[in-house]
Amino acid sequence: MTSLADIRSTFLDYYKRQGHQVVASSPLVPRNDPTLMFTNSGMVQFKNLFTGLEHRDYKRAVTSQKCVRAGGKHNDLDNVGYTARHLTFFEMLGNFSFGDYFKEDAIPFAWELLTKDFGIDKSRLLTTVYHNDDEAFDLWKKIGVPEDRIIRIATDDNFWQMGPTGPCGPCTEIFFDHGDHIWGGPPGSPEEDGDRFIEIWNVVFMQNEQFADGTMTPLDMQSIDTGMGLERIASLLQGSNSVYETDLMRALIGASANATGVDPDGDQAVHHRVIADHLRSTSFLIAEGVMPSNEGRGYVLRRIMRRAMRHAHLLGAKDPVMHRLVPELVQQMGAAYPELVERKATIAETLLGEEERFRQTLDRGLKLLSDEASGLSEGQSLSGDAAFKLYDTYGFPLDLTQDALRDRGILVDTDGFDAAMAQQKAKARAAWVGTGETADAAVWFDIADTHGTTDFLGYETETAEGQVLALVADGAQVAKAAKGKVQIVLNQTPFYAESGGQVGDTGLIRTDTGQASVTDTRKEAGLFIHIAEVSEGEIKTGQGAELIVDHARRTDIRANHSATHLLHEALREALGDHVAQRGSLNAPDRLRFDFSHGKGLSLAELRKVEADVNAMIRQNTPVETRIMTPDDARAMGAQALFGEKYGDEVRVVSMGRADTGKGADGQTYSIELCGGTHVRQTGDIGAFVTLGDSASSSGVRRIEALTGQAAMDYLQAQDHRLAQVALALKAQAADVPDRVKALLDERKALANEVAQLRRELAMGGGAGESAAQVEINGICFMGQVMTGVSGKDLPALVDQFKDKVGSGVVVLIADTGGRAAVAAGVTGDLTDRISAVDILRAVTPELGGKGGGGRPDMAQGGGASVENADAALAAAKQVLETL
Ligand code: SER
Repeated sequence: MTSLADIRSTFLDYYKRQGHQVVASSPLVPRNDPTLMFTNSGMVQFKNLFTGLEHRDYKRAVTSQKCVRAGGKHNDLDNVGYTARHLTFFEMLGNFSFGDYFKEDAIPFAWELLTKDFGIDKSRLLTTVYHNDDEAFDLWKKIGVPEDRIIRIATDDNFWQMGPTGPCGPCTEIFFDHGDHIWGGPPGSPEEDGDRFIEIWNVVFMQNEQFADGTMTPLDMQSIDTGMGLERIASLLQGSNSVYETDLMRALIGASANATGVDPDGDQAVHHRVIADHLRSTSFLIAEGVMPSNEGRGYVLRRIMRRAMRHAHLLGAKDPVMHRLVPELVQQMGAAYPELVERKATIAETLLGEEERFRQTLDRGLKLLSDEASGLSEGQSLSGDAAFKLYDTYGFPLDLTQDALRDRGILVDTDGFDAAMAQQKAKARAAWVGTGETADAAVWFDIADTHGTTDFLGYETETAEGQVLALVADGAQVAKAAKGKVQIVLNQTPFYAESGGQVGDTGLIRTDTGQASVTDTRKEAGLFIHIAEVSEGEIKTGQGAELIVDHARRTDIRANHSATHLLHEALREALGDHVAQRGSLNAPDRLRFDFSHGKGLSLAELRKVEADVNAMIRQNTPVETRIMTPDDARAMGAQALFGEKYGDEVRVVSMGRADTGKGADGQTYSIELCGGTHVRQTGDIGAFVTLGDSASSSGVRRIEALTGQAAMDYLQAQDHRLAQVALALKAQAADVPDRVKALLDERKALANEVAQLRRELAMGGGAGESAAQVEINGICFMGQVMTGVSGKDLPALVDQFKDKVGSGVVVLIADTGGRAAVAAGVTGDLTDRISAVDILRAVTPELGGKGGGGRPDMAQGGGASVENADAALAAAKQVLETL
């Protein structure tokens, strides 16, 4: 027996030998196609090569492409489990020629591979061609296929189209006859839907392009696009007609049987088949970041999940089953698809969460369903109202209700269901109050009613293609927009619309005919509104558009938003559990966080918060996103906005490992309900620095902060400022010795001035008349007691008085704080008659001193008390009187 992996490599190797480049599978969520919900065939990633828009350095390629067919043009969901050949997820083996070889090579390649490399019995093969494709008919004939085994088909079964638009062309298909023990007829016969003749390979001759307006034109190049379901060829080679009998699917069915304890092959086998198939499609979608939701791709995912979960329930499972099968899936497919290994935990957790949520209403829904359907018999329909109630109240997607009634041949009134849905929308519309920030109200509801809501791709990608659904200028829809302001609505977008404090994205929208720059993105009525300015040419509704979010700006916003979550938890740990978010702004250049707290933060608190956030950044752990009910989220410790209304389910963002054992739940540092975009790893934030805290309103503080490059720039600017201050200080310090010297000189000059002033003061303002001057024995005597002068000053003063009197004797006594200093002077003409020393000897005993010393013209001394100064002066006069 040949395993699936062997068959895959045999195929790739065969075409490699034929000069084909082996190209990796592209994602399930197409980035390059505005109209496709999921990658539904191998050619999707090459679409633009067929139309000549894109060129690569190879003209031949071979792939094994993961595909999902559960929505849009190629939707196999309803058949899964009930036929032997339908799957929602499969791998498509394909070879491609881009304007290189055409029919005459493609047909022989396929034939050789099937009949030689795979060794399939030629007599079991038959082919179809498009009814007027004689060329293909002749090629098959030439290769040896009998004419009665080449069937002409006139329907679009043999004219392949990827979707409503895009490259297309006639095709030839190869069928395998599994034998008359299985019911079914050859293609084109009334029994063709049976499982006896199974299409294994479709070879498309790409030669046309289909446009939205219904026209189809020939392409410049003739190309080849082929697709062979790996599971179909594998089951055939492994001796079965059922894709559920391959080694891989048997392993998954075995896991389902183990988990539920129900025989894998008995009359319950259909449930195992549904579970095995749906496990693959849901896990691969989750691995690519699609999350269950009520819109777009997320809703298709939910429909598949819930369908599987109902089948698990039918197997009697009492507890959630799907997540328990993930390890087996990873075991089987992880080697070929590493994304399964990487996202294993997220896949299991998302499946578990969804199954838990669905189980809460499943029993009641099923009871309602059986009550409503009890009176119905085969061919009758369940009312649209009942189907809508199941949808709206019990979370039963319409196709799940249809699936549940299928066994009994009961249909569902889908028109009635649509009418009930429309009525509910009308109610919502009546109750709606717009934000008033974008063009007026009703227009958005009109657009949402016609086209549905916008699918947001921006958690996973920043560039994608979308289809322009509507253009609004001055509050009204327009068919096209040339230079100027316009609001653009697309079916899907990577642009984040402002909400939860995170600003809207900006960027570029480009179509074949024009270009617009997006200056903001907002949300109204489930639509993402791109507020734009057409800068070149014109943009038209219906066009495919390239959507490019400003990457650098979004990167900064992401870092700031994730840092806000870390800051929130850091504040709770530093200040206490009363800290709750009161508002936030996550802009590209900064973040702002308002929170309840009564007083300003101390510098130590701020520094701790900053250090804690940076520690979480350096931890560089992955940021995890989950979908759950608000109650479950709160139970796990998630921070929610007080007073905020949340839907049935919320997005929960967790980050950081709580090494301290604290954090949101003792293990994870931060857990918050949040619809915003975040970094992949905390390390992507780079760095975090606060700009301080301030009061926002009473009881509410505000912290502004920076991350990444902005934080770095800020720190460098601070550093620069400090360096400048230091330089200025240094320059000043260099002056200090000179300035000190100047000050000292100034001080000296001032001291001299003071002494001079004192002397002048002592001399009675410079005039000297006030000094007591008498004549004794024809000699002029001048004696005086002075305050405010020191003993040192006396000789100079005596000299000045001597100059003043010209001829005479001068005695000055200074009162130096109660003590006395004394100086006596005799002018030169009198020193032979009187000695200053003698006078001093007469004076000092009166002052409590003992004589003094000096020369005949000048002598100095002192005493313990100035009290008897007058007696001392009298003693001096006495010396003159007794001459
Ligand atoms: N595109 C064609 C198909 O999907 C052949 O690959 O069948």
